[in-house]
Amino acid sequence: MNNRPIGIFDSGVGGLTVLKEVAELLPAENILYLGDTARVPYGVRSPETVIRYSFECAEFLLRQNIKLLVVACNTVSAISLHKIREAVSIPVIGVIEPGAAAAVNATKNKRIGIIGTEATIKSSSYVKAIKALDKDVEVSGLPCPLFVPLVEEGWTEGTIARLIAERYLKDIMDREVDTIVLGCTHYPLLKGVIQGVMNDVRLVDSAIETAKAVKNALSEKRMNREAGAASERKFYVTDSTEKFVSVGERFLQQKIKDIEKIEL
Ligand code: DGL
Repeated sequence: MNNRPIGIFDSGVGGLTVLKEVAELLPAENILYLGDTARVPYGVRSPETVIRYSFECAEFLLRQNIKLLVVACNTVSAISLHKIREAVSIPVIGVIEPGAAAAVNATKNKRIGIIGTEATIKSSSYVKAIKALDKDVEVSGLPCPLFVPLVEEGWTEGTIARLIAERYLKDIMDREVDTIVLGCTHYPLLKGVIQGVMNDVRLVDSAIETAKAVKNALSEKRMNREAGAASERKFYVTDSTEKFVSVGERFLQQKIKDIEKIEL
């Protein structure tokens, strides 16, 4: 059981920010990653479509005999995490609950901003998760759809990124939040720009918080692989492998070697 891999999926390449943190925290674990690159982005789609796509991703990874499933995509976590949890028998970790808990711990003035895709913000999942922990916290959600193509293009610093960030974040600055949750897989790559625009705000990186939640879940269930064991990473995509490798290596800051194109 303990030697079985962890499965991580996302709508595309963005979930590699989560894989990176999980791999850093749990170096002995074998990891399978699925990016549904043929159908990205999910963040602009209806809940019905996101649910259907996410079940196909989860089912594929379950067929690979994983021991724990990580839903790295904020949009999927916001819309269908509870449905996936109900449907499968292994532990399922999403990105919303860990990010929400870290934000509640971080805020001093009880005003938190959430930035994410349109679907994530519309679902109010972060708002519900935060309110469940502390009902007095005021939560402001803001969709920042241009951040995803910006990051995929590699424009994570410089004038264009700064201007777009300033334009988006103005609304949230007016609400005097002291903490912002980076509620989308791509946004950790814009940390520098976002922090530059909002100097005094604490940024919560859902990827780091999710990796901690994965570690806790494995320890709790005594499912860790033996420390020091050599580990493997395998990548699956639903569209061309070349594009995923070139963008993905930037996300991961590592070489992507074992990769296969599959049909869902
Ligand atoms: N992975 C998505 C998320 O975290 C961003 C890209 C998309 O819209 O599919 O919400």
